[in-house]
Amino acid sequence: MADTPKCPFTTTDAGIPVQSDEHSLTVGRDGPIVLNDHYLIEQMANFNRERIPERQPHAKGSGAFGTYETTADVSKYTKAKIFQKGAKAEAAARFSTVAGERGSPDTWRDPRGFSVKIYTEDGNFDMVGNNTPIFFIRDPLKFQHFIRSQKRRADNGLRDHDMQWDFWTLSPESAHQVTYLMGDRGIPKNWREMNGYSSHTYMLVNEEGEKFWVKFHWHSDQGDGNAHLTQDEADKMAGQDGDYHRRDLFDAIAKGDHPSWTLKWQIMPFEDAKTYRINPFDLTKVWPHKDYPLMEVGKLTLTENPVDWDTQIEQLAFEPNNMVPGIGLSPDKMLLARGFSYADAHRARLGVNYKQIPVNQAKNAEVHSYSRAGQGRTVNAVDPVYAPNSYGGAGAQPQVGGEATWMSDGDMVRQAYTLREDDDDWSQAGALVREVMDDAQRDRFVDNVAGHLADGVSEPILVRAFDYWRNVDKDIGDRIEKATRDLVGGKSKAPGMASAESIKGYAGVPATSD
Ligand code: HEM
Repeated sequence: MADTPKCPFTTTDAGIPVQSDEHSLTVGRDGPIVLNDHYLIEQMANFNRERIPERQPHAKGSGAFGTYETTADVSKYTKAKIFQKGAKAEAAARFSTVAGERGSPDTWRDPRGFSVKIYTEDGNFDMVGNNTPIFFIRDPLKFQHFIRSQKRRADNGLRDHDMQWDFWTLSPESAHQVTYLMGDRGIPKNWREMNGYSSHTYMLVNEEGEKFWVKFHWHSDQGDGNAHLTQDEADKMAGQDGDYHRRDLFDAIAKGDHPSWTLKWQIMPFEDAKTYRINPFDLTKVWPHKDYPLMEVGKLTLTENPVDWDTQIEQLAFEPNNMVPGIGLSPDKMLLARGFSYADAHRARLGVNYKQIPVNQAKNAEVHSYSRAGQGRTVNAVDPVYAPNSYGGAGAQPQVGGEATWMSDGDMVRQAYTLREDDDDWSQAGALVREVMDDAQRDRFVDNVAGHLADGVSEPILVRAFDYWRNVDKDIGDRIEKATRDLVGGKSKAPGMASAESIKGYAGVPATSD
């Protein structure tokens, strides 16, 4: 338990000592309660407003606090003060599942969120990633639909594998991430032994204004990033302890077993991006390490548990737009949309002044923004309240070396990225199955996919799923079909959303990758 409050007696929220923790004010011992029992009303009112809206998505999770330190000299890539050798700052991290609600089990199969906030002297820097280096889709217009397909149906309020596979098989760009999801990374053993990835490509800018592309990798120092639970272990654990991962992290830190992650970068020279055989901004693809090897950069260590989970973890707000000078976004369409989406979510979830909540404040940089007033504001505004001004108010400081920007030109269109030589939806997923997984991992993968497909997926979508996996790898597709057919006893009897016969195909434009 955290320190007990210094004041030994109970007060109202205004600090006024209260008469009783147990008895409401009534007219006579057996009489009615009176309206002027302000303390009773304050307790009821506060209780009714305790729960803030949950994150949509990534509602279930937890986190801890510690330090980030840069251990290598990477100054030739970035001028960011936090990425100069020896720079150190407080950090917050939060780990989460994606589709489950705030009370859902930690061990449901899902990618895991991996968010880091570093309170740098240039302001807060946030890296909001996952435990996989890629994602299901590459255009943000599909994100909302994707998440809805992973959550609950309209009619019965149930999660539904039929709609999950319906979306995935109509979105072939999902194959790489679904391969990760159905493999061991879909149910990590705990958060401490899990790797994290920016997944997206970001930009670095050095003092001279030279630009580079970068991908972030957080490698767990506790293991190889692949520690997992089997489906059976996870199912059992979901019943025994829905907060298994949250408890594991909290207990480890409480007993002084402080988890750490080594930050590594893959750097791509700015000009390479124009001709690289894979679109380096396509979030469904990795950059093979043989082309762009990992280099060590720094270390994140978590040493402190929250003392008030609601104000420190639930009100923690990570946003990919928090980029400090020396690092910036990239032409990845998903990342650019995220640059808007998170701050909007925070205004909806926490109120317009969410950056004044202590855990979201810039701890090591002064804030001189011209934002003022609004609900929940706690910091006083000062005159002058406008810029430019002649009264010594803050003025913008153009960065040495310039902002992280790039050249862009063209007609406004609604089209997919231009395809490059090695851009297709299946090859990297196929390589993951054939070259990265060993036999035991591949066997578990086939069992996981077949078990998932056999659980409520209707016949037409099953057939599409077998083709999807054959596109990834012919042999794996055949194995998945056989294992699924064995489990469902021939044809699937699952009704799907309506009757299976009513599926006529997707009402919109068929999914293609070009
Ligand atoms: C949470 C939107 C893609 C990782 C969220 C939240 C929103 C959101 C609205 C809730 C934020 C909050 O209330 O605090 C989007 C959109 C995306 C996208 C619009 C694509 C266009 C991604 C990708 C990743 C990711 C590609 C990983 C690489 C996360 C994580 C959280 C989160 C880790 C939880 C943050 C926390 O711990 O508080 N996302 N997301 N998201 N998202 Fe995304």
